[in-house]
Amino acid sequence: MIYHFQELSSTNDQATQPSYHEGDVIWAERQSAGRGQRGHSWESEEGKNLTFSVLLEPTFLAPQDQFMLLRVIALSMVDTLLRFGIEARIKWTNDIYVGDKKIVGILMEHKLQGSELSRAIAGIGINVNQQEFSPKLPNPTSMALLKGKEFDREQVLQVFLESLMTRYDMLRQNQPERLIADYNSLLYRLNEWHTYALPDGELFEGRILGVEQQGALRIERKDGSECQFLFKEVEFVLNN
Ligand code: BTN
Repeated sequence: MIYHFQELSSTNDQATQPSYHEGDVIWAERQSAGRGQRGHSWESEEGKNLTFSVLLEPTFLAPQDQFMLLRVIALSMVDTLLRFGIEARIKWTNDIYVGDKKIVGILMEHKLQGSELSRAIAGIGINVNQQEFSPKLPNPTSMALLKGKEFDREQVLQVFLESLMTRYDMLRQNQPERLIADYNSLLYRLNEWHTYALPDGELFEGRILGVEQQGALRIERKDGSECQFLFKEVEFVLNN
């Protein structure tokens, strides 16, 4: 069921309420405290975009496999954009890019109950019809900017939910291989040499080889060695 609000603090916070269940969508036209990754805020022009959360109850999934959910969401988003003629890639871990610009942000939050993944909240911000962005944002784009026309946001949301059901079923039916392979093949900067930064500021040249089952990014260095990085252990250096 889709719950459409005029204003919420954050749809991810609203989705923690126990009255929501598997497949419910909480959509807000305006978030007074929209959250992004790494403690950032998420800005979105009121009435122009999609800012929503989908609640999943993936009790069938082992907690150590929770990166599979991110794969499901990211792939559903790429599938959706393709239906509207936009070819997107996945910037590890969970940004959706078109060229070198960000079109979608995803914030995953999980709740463990005992050893069970009882709830997962996928918070998604899609830049749909916004055409002007704050200069503070490094590299935003939107569906409208890319295609030169506005889109019906409800239709975009419906296509996303259809794509999500297909991808989530692959996971439920224990077919992770296809999700892993598709996620890898759609990685932003896959197999290309670029500069990466370590948390201490050191820069190095590397080439993305893929992502491990549980989410570590595999990068080859120029000397032929391979490193694996977890979330926040490596940064992409963008040439804006
Ligand atoms: C990011 O790229 O930093 C993630 C952005 C996630 C934004 C969405 S908008 C809907 C949901 N509610 C939030 O507060 N954040 C997510």
